[in-house]
Amino acid sequence: MPMDEKLPVPVTITEIKTESPSVKSFFFDKEFTFTAGQFTMVWVPKIDEIPMALSSKNSITVQKAGDATEAMFNLAAGAQLGIRGPLGNGFTKGEKMLAIAGGVGAAPLLPLAKSDCVMTMLLGARTENELLFIDQLDESTDVLIATDDGSLGVHGFVTDLLEEVNLAAYDRIAVCGPEPMMRAVLGRLDAKDCLGKTEFSLHRYMKCGIGVCGSCCIDPDGLRVCRDGPVFNGELLKKTEFGHYMRDACGNRKNF
Ligand SMILES: Cc1cc2nc3c(=O)[nH]c(=O)nc-3n(C[C@H](O)[C@H](O)[C@H](O)COP(=O)(O)OP(=O)(O)OC[C@H]3O[C@@H](n4cnc5c(N)ncnc54)[C@H](O)[C@@H]3O)c2cc1C
Ligand code: FES
Repeated sequence: MPMDEKLPVPVTITEIKTESPSVKSFFFDKEFTFTAGQFTMVWVPKIDEIPMALSSKNSITVQKAGDATEAMFNLAAGAQLGIRGPLGNGFTKGEKMLAIAGGVGAAPLLPLAKSDCVMTMLLGARTENELLFIDQLDESTDVLIATDDGSLGVHGFVTDLLEEVNLAAYDRIAVCGPEPMMRAVLGRLDAKDCLGKTEFSLHRYMKCGIGVCGSCCIDPDGLRVCRDGPVFNGELLKKTEFGHYMRDACGNRKNF
């Protein structure tokens, strides 16, 4: 096992960018070679170690959720974090891709969108000021927007935007967002017979991040999100607990 999987590399925060009222990007002084969709275990000193996708070679984009992320929101440039990874697998790159993002799920998709292989990006959020990265996507990517409250784009969910695109035009479809949203997307894409070219990135509770502790296993086969994922093909996920329930820190089942 490579040492960077076991030991965090210390990094210093060089810049913190507020992306939305609940999301900030943290840039650090070291660069990592990675595939879009891979994640790191981020050690927040004195608090916890949590999984975070890389949103660029030297940044993570974090939504405030609980103890560790809240502590990160109180950090300033100059503070230190520990980074273990990159870990897991990333998205398979296509030539004409469709990316579908809900909320902070846009973070692992940003490097793909910036690499010019994404023709169309469907972006969903609760409200306009929670939409991420619109300013960073250039004209080579067609961006379609949906907000739950109708403040920008289509009034509805990102799934509604699927009716506006020709799915046959894309060779790969990459999805990341809240799991109930991803399950709904999986259902729509299954109905249109194109699950084979889809990949979904899961945000699940993790402890070790390297396939040892079992806390991220998914039923029925015990696939480990940290090691066998976090990016999985849609055909594979269809037969699992995906979108129905997950495990909390104690291993108890929690319904979505
Ligand atoms: C591979 C991977 C990549 C991720 N990438 C990002 C990212 O780029 N940006 C980002 O903001 N978040 C990402 N997450 C989710 C992030 O890890 C959690 O939000 C974080 O661990 C919460 O830690 P906390 O201590 O702040 O909250 P906690 O106190 O641990 O939890 C607060 C609340 O969030 C729930 N929760 C905790 N962890 C998760 C989880 N993994 N999925 C769903 N609910 C959870 C808890 O049940 C609780 O209700 C990713 C998760 C994984 C597995
Ligand atoms: S987090 Fe330990 S096996 Fe995945």
